[in-house]
Amino acid sequence: MIGFFGTLFARAEPKLSELTVRDAPAIAALHAASFHRGWSEQEVETLLADRHVVAHRALCGGKLGGFIITRLVIDEAEILSVAVARARQGRGIGRQLLTLHLRRLAGRGARTVFLEVDETNAAAIRLYRRAGFHEISRRANYYPGAGGQSAAALVLRRDLQS
Ligand SMILES: CC(C)(COP(=O)(O)OP(=O)(O)OC[C@H]1O[C@@H](n2cnc3c(N)ncnc32)[C@H](O)[C@@H]1OP(=O)(O)O)[C@@H](O)C(=O)NCCC(=O)NCCS
Repeated sequence: MIGFFGTLFARAEPKLSELTVRDAPAIAALHAASFHRGWSEQEVETLLADRHVVAHRALCGGKLGGFIITRLVIDEAEILSVAVARARQGRGIGRQLLTLHLRRLAGRGARTVFLEVDETNAAAIRLYRRAGFHEISRRANYYPGAGGQSAAALVLRRDLQS
């Protein structure tokens, strides 16, 4: 029975909304699980309290399923981080979060959105390309990888209409 309801919750539509400082512990935990270099709760709190930061979350059954955080200065935005909980990846949560987020950024005056992505991160590259981002430059040896290998960062851009 518990398994049945667990599955129902896992598959329910995510609820998208703005992130608040109260989400900092959950964001720090998901960020740490998703990236080599984690953010501390304090770093996340500082970010979320910054008036230039625009951030959204996806709640799945009341739990944090994903987030996206951007810094917006005048009309230029930089996506700082996006992550979806591993168990919920590949179900469209990243796409829904990014779509809502870009709409909100446009509403707040953003004209251009930039981001950096590891050239080996197929899921993220696919997500961004689908959302209309294109590559504008490449930074070689940007991300340290396993076994002394390093990967390039692709710098992607998308223009928005306010
Ligand atoms: C990148 C990430 C946010 C995508 O979130 P998601 O909810 O899994 O993405 P979606 O289900 O909305 O899928 C988005 C696209 O990626 C594709 N995709 C998802 N997982 C994939 C995988 N493992 N390999 C290749 N493509 C994948 C989907 O097919 C979809 O493309 P499509 O629309 O052409 O079919 C998620 O994989 C993640 O959190 N990764 C770890 C953190 C990270 O790398 N963040 C990005 C840093 S720049």
